[in-house]
Amino acid sequence: MKLALRKLLHNLGSLTELGAEITSTHDFEEIVRTSLHTILGTLAIPKGAIAQYSARPREARIIAAKGISGVVDERIALGRDEVERFKSRSRPVIVKAERNGFSQFIRRNDELFRRLHAHQVVPMVTRGQFVGMIFLSEKFSRADYDDDDLAIIETIARHIGIAIYNHRLLLRLKSKAEDNRRLYREMRQLYHDTVKAFGAAIDLKDSYTSGHSHRVAKYAEAIARQMGMTGAELEHIAVAAYLHDIGKIVVERAIINNPRPLTEREYRELNRHVTTGYEILSHIRQPWKEIAYLTKCHHERVDGKGYPQGLVGEEIPVGSKIVTLADSFDAMMTDRPYRARLPLDQALADLRHQAGKQFDPEVVTAFCRLLLEEIRGFARQRTLLTMIGLSFDRETVVKMLDSIITEFDQADAQA
Ligand SMILES: [Fe+2]
Repeated sequence: MKLALRKLLHNLGSLTELGAEITSTHDFEEIVRTSLHTILGTLAIPKGAIAQYSARPREARIIAAKGISGVVDERIALGRDEVERFKSRSRPVIVKAERNGFSQFIRRNDELFRRLHAHQVVPMVTRGQFVGMIFLSEKFSRADYDDDDLAIIETIARHIGIAIYNHRLLLRLKSKAEDNRRLYREMRQLYHDTVKAFGAAIDLKDSYTSGHSHRVAKYAEAIARQMGMTGAELEHIAVAAYLHDIGKIVVERAIINNPRPLTEREYRELNRHVTTGYEILSHIRQPWKEIAYLTKCHHERVDGKGYPQGLVGEEIPVGSKIVTLADSFDAMMTDRPYRARLPLDQALADLRHQAGKQFDPEVVTAFCRLLLEEIRGFARQRTLLTMIGLSFDRETVVKMLDSIITEFDQADAQA
């Protein structure tokens, strides 16, 4: 016994690893292997193996072996009652013993037990759960296992049991986390698809502006990003841009598609779309409240002459100001029944002229800066150019953009 104890102390270095935290399958396999070697080395046992139990299907799989080849991954089926009996068993099962209560189990696995040279089977139970078993051959000396040997085996078996238990927990957590991530991805996808579907539904109502909501969203997102917005804020603006005209769903199609100038009554009816849109969206839970308000303000003007509230300057959320510009710019760049699309330089002149009136100069500047970066090839993507097309005089446009940016930058510096 003294020798065994000395060996155990000698192996303490590797034993301390048994208590180590398991953060990966590699850790786990390492711990199981070390533990098996520790038992065998300490008690001078030539052959042994460790099997891990799983309830579905009810079987133990050999995960480590020493002194025996070709047994790793062998599976041992277990009956429900056998699992229960192992669970309540405090001592090892001696394979050759006449009455060990497991004669059927041993007979069924006779061939494998022979290959394992199994002399005894040590069940491992952790927190009331059967987690696996250790197979041990006879000792080198062929002497019987005494009580001290069994105490050492029991101690190490408890450690291995905890390792298996923890590893199982880790795998379960990992798969839960993966499930959650997948679910989250699916939900986001669904959310985005729904928003896009709404946008497409709005556009369908207006026969002249096919794809308008989609483009406004792309413009708005690009401008917001240029202005340094990220994360939820950026996403809210893009969604608000997609849905900015959702209130048009209740406006008569004849008014929306009217090629003539609208009468006052028709204007009132059309302008209702911002409050109607707000009502539709504000009934939906967060984060829609904020998005609803962003859409409500997309016809406000910084000079206070917009609708529905006549807000001035800073009273208008910056997200709405971005949508306003994106909306108007796309309208300028699209053919309408009463006029053809504007040339780019003319649209830019309009933006410049309306800066401080309809548009926030800061948003106009950000837009111009991004467009300039795209034209000069400095931007990561060509979001604006893809939508605008390339049929413009590069030199004229670059000059214009430069001059707009300089003008507003100076105004900004003076302010
Ligand atoms: Fe609108």
